[in-house]
Amino acid sequence: MNASEIRQKYLDFQQQKGHKVIAPAPLVLENDPTTLFTGSGMQPLLRYLLGEKHPDGTRLTDSQPCLRLQDIEDVGDPRHTTVFEMLGNWSLGDYFKKEQIENYFEFLTKVIGLDPEKIFVTCFIGSEKYGIPKDTEAAKIWQGVFEKAGVKAEIAEIDTAENGDKRGIKDGERIFFYNDKENWWSRGGGIETTPIGDPCGPDSEVFYDFGEDKQDVEKYGKSHPASDGARFMEIGNQVFMQYRRNEDGSFSELEHKNVDFGGGLERLAAASMGSFDVFRISLMQPIIDKLEQLSGKSYDNNTDEMRIICDHLRGAYLLSAQGLTPSNKAQGYALRRLIRRAILKALDLGIAKDFLRETISTIENEYKSLPDSILTNREHALELLEKEERTFRQTLNKGLKELEKISKHQEIITGRDIFKLQDTYGFPYEISIEEIYRQNLKLSDNFKAEFDEALSEQRERSKTASKGMFKGGLEDHGEMTTKYHTATHLMLAALQKHVDPNICQRGSNITADRIRFDFNLDHKMTPEEIKAVEDQVNEWIKADLPVVFDEYDKVYARDTLKAHGQFWDKYPEKLKVYTIGDFDNPISREVCGGPHVEHTGVLGTFKIKKEESSSAGVRRIKAVIE
Ligand code: ALA
Repeated sequence: MNASEIRQKYLDFQQQKGHKVIAPAPLVLENDPTTLFTGSGMQPLLRYLLGEKHPDGTRLTDSQPCLRLQDIEDVGDPRHTTVFEMLGNWSLGDYFKKEQIENYFEFLTKVIGLDPEKIFVTCFIGSEKYGIPKDTEAAKIWQGVFEKAGVKAEIAEIDTAENGDKRGIKDGERIFFYNDKENWWSRGGGIETTPIGDPCGPDSEVFYDFGEDKQDVEKYGKSHPASDGARFMEIGNQVFMQYRRNEDGSFSELEHKNVDFGGGLERLAAASMGSFDVFRISLMQPIIDKLEQLSGKSYDNNTDEMRIICDHLRGAYLLSAQGLTPSNKAQGYALRRLIRRAILKALDLGIAKDFLRETISTIENEYKSLPDSILTNREHALELLEKEERTFRQTLNKGLKELEKISKHQEIITGRDIFKLQDTYGFPYEISIEEIYRQNLKLSDNFKAEFDEALSEQRERSKTASKGMFKGGLEDHGEMTTKYHTATHLMLAALQKHVDPNICQRGSNITADRIRFDFNLDHKMTPEEIKAVEDQVNEWIKADLPVVFDEYDKVYARDTLKAHGQFWDKYPEKLKVYTIGDFDNPISREVCGGPHVEHTGVLGTFKIKKEESSSAGVRRIKAVIE
């Protein structure tokens, strides 16, 4: 069954069960300052989940296009996408756990024909702190449902996903209890971060098993429903939305108990065709085919790039078909970013000519059934994207010409030159570096520091620098990036202190949204190590340590100050060293161009989001400060 068929079958099925089909909301929600885009089916229904009467009754269903930019870094694996459609059904104080679980199981096994043996589920283990009971009720209902289908379903107590990575699944187990990191739903994530006033509750997630052989155990640990890796894929989340968070942080029961169900259409379509790779479904395969044809390269050898392009082009299409235009702020900037990332990734594949129109037109038909009420600009979408593509290519060409001019007059290209290309011609930093390497030009040893210095000088000149509207919109991009620079120094020091004193930086990439940091280590970090690093960094942040810098002679910096550095043989004779903490007994001292914050206290809360293998002997951390 393809995605459009599944969408229709789902809506028909829910209608038979007494639900009213409602129109989905646009991706850009007006009057909702809390997010840039609609990220789940419940978002447009918030007030009804809190008790207001809905004109269409107490049973609703729809298919809601969603965009989650916070997942952009994960795109490239077999199932993460920034854009997806969420099939949803809601009970507004009507039915509750039993009817929901039975109905969804019926839909999966009877309507789209999934094998019940391949379905695994999870339930909430409860929270003593907040007096929220373990959801044995849902687990029992699941047991009954599986029993009726003749499928063995024992209950496993895992508690946390990390424990599961070591424990795996024992014979016959099918129902798993996890803590709030996995099985509590609010718009803010886990139980501690539930926003005040929001409806929330325990959830029960449904997973499809693609087979044990799909799990890369070395990389992701043993498989169990919530593990990373390719064996299990979540194909539905039933939130038993029965609480609301109070001002004092506690939870009260809502007068009406709701169900908020959401299931990713793309993932259901993939499960229904037995493909663990969602990019193989009808909404995406035509794009992949086109990319293979245009580049003359295969998906199998260029999987990550093609997945990213495919995802971003779908997002770009849906946004522009809804009337959004690329710009330099907020939602328009996100659209611009999707388009540009796709074009740059296509360049990596060798696609250097305009390709958006002919690539995206392969999936236009798949969206015919989305209502005109949201795709108000579908007629002009491709034209608009084509125009943006043309402008961006002009920028790229202009930048290349300028780079050529510089390289004719200078032997070495400096960080300041790269900064000027970006600042004046919009030619992105990463492309400058790539081109310089590609053309075998000489790059100054200290280019990164020079670039950062030019950047901070410019920032000082212009306090009105454009606001970082991309995520949350609260902080200036530059300020946030500066904070991440300092957090990275703290993290490296914490890694050396708690994991291995020989750890060195092997690469880093910092944006206004996160740190990506590569370092040498011969094993996957344990949950205890991750926690120790997080706690240590947060302790140093709390201690509000001073951050100071000065210029030193190279030998003095290396031998006397014992500064941490990666490229001693390449550094110039004079260099900048940043010290954090007591100068005579610092917690971190690194050669670095800066800029950094002046006191660690301004950094916020540090969190490691992901720790994974990057290449042999090199690990990669993604971390954020919140
Ligand atoms: N609102 C729930 C989710 O997004 C269904 O997973």
